[in-house]
Amino acid sequence: MSQYQTVCAQLQQAPKTWLVTGVAGFIGSNLLETLLKLNQKVVGLDNFATGHQHNLDEVQGLVSTAQWANFRFIEGDIRNITDCQNACTSVDYVLHEAALGSVPRSIADPILTNSANITGFLNMLVAARDAQVSSFTYAASSSTYGDHPALPKVEENIGKPLSPYAVTKYVNELYADVFAKTYGFKAIGLRYFNVFGQRQDPNGAYAAVIPKWTSSMIAGGDVFINGDGETSRDFCFIDNTVQANILAATTQDEAAKNQVYNVAVGDRTTLNELYRAIQVALAENQVNFERDPVYREFRAGDVRHSQASIAKIQQHLGYEPQFKIAEGIQLAMRWYVNNLT
Ligand SMILES: NC(=O)c1ccc[n+]([C@@H]2O[C@H](COP(=O)([O-])OP(=O)(O)OC[C@H]3O[C@@H](n4cnc5c(N)ncnc54)[C@H](O)[C@@H]3O)[C@@H](O)[C@H]2O)c1
Repeated sequence: MSQYQTVCAQLQQAPKTWLVTGVAGFIGSNLLETLLKLNQKVVGLDNFATGHQHNLDEVQGLVSTAQWANFRFIEGDIRNITDCQNACTSVDYVLHEAALGSVPRSIADPILTNSANITGFLNMLVAARDAQVSSFTYAASSSTYGDHPALPKVEENIGKPLSPYAVTKYVNELYADVFAKTYGFKAIGLRYFNVFGQRQDPNGAYAAVIPKWTSSMIAGGDVFINGDGETSRDFCFIDNTVQANILAATTQDEAAKNQVYNVAVGDRTTLNELYRAIQVALAENQVNFERDPVYREFRAGDVRHSQASIAKIQQHLGYEPQFKIAEGIQLAMRWYVNNLT
């Protein structure tokens, strides 16, 4: 039995109360689905800045009536400390996902990104500390590696941030570390590497690459690649990310806390390879898109290559990614074809 299976079995035996911030978003709604299916109690906080009611509705349709009754939603804003305090009341584990993602969004409006990602993060840390929750796990980011050239990325070797978004995610790590030192409140940061899967938003100017390309291919429109397509990423299917969160939140190992961990698969896929993989997976779902991509300028703030070492999270939290990119793409494409056509 894997560590993850063991933890899931224990949670079903003795359910806990979880707070998921950003619960109406992509990662948050997937955490909600898994936790409710494990018969956990979940409090969700979201202001619908980039999340959607339809994500919550979809989860409701995937769980039983009794499981859905274990969910309490608070429409609120992490920039408001009172909302954070309300949400943290009587909670065992916090999974803090709420933030404004996207490098280009942060370049367009650094003040807005800063307010959600830094002020909001600090509010959540204070509220969770004061509520004496058992654990606090937060969404960090691979963007913290910035201009450090080494591959694969190892947690302790980071460079300078390349965007306002990356600054905010690095500041989260700094605050978390200071809270451990000054208040003994030990959080765990999960540096996600390009997460993808069901319910990732294909719409809007700041959509991530996989949903953006997929929706264009389904609609038969042009697909743009920024740069020459040899930019590479360690794409990580959402279910792996959910696993990492549950393992981090429940770890009893004090040495595993006040740490940051890469969450990825440990592989590297170029954008050109990704393009072909999506075409093939869509064709398996009767969506045939034969056109070549349209290449355009590199995007400001983007890192050229990214690939994680996952040794640290494997060793300290017993994480083992269940899905490689190919399987994840197949599952994600099935979802997009069912939901966008
Ligand atoms: N998706 C990725 O590849 C990726 C990679 C690295 C880090 N992350 C981080 O993971 C987290 C979740 O990202 P996601 O991909 O699910 O994005 P998402 O936009 O789908 O979800 C974020 C959620 O947070 C909510 N939110 C934003 N500001 C808020 C505020 N002020 N108060 C309350 N709720 C607020 C949004 O409405 C949304 O539902 C974010 O912290 C993001 O920075 C994601």
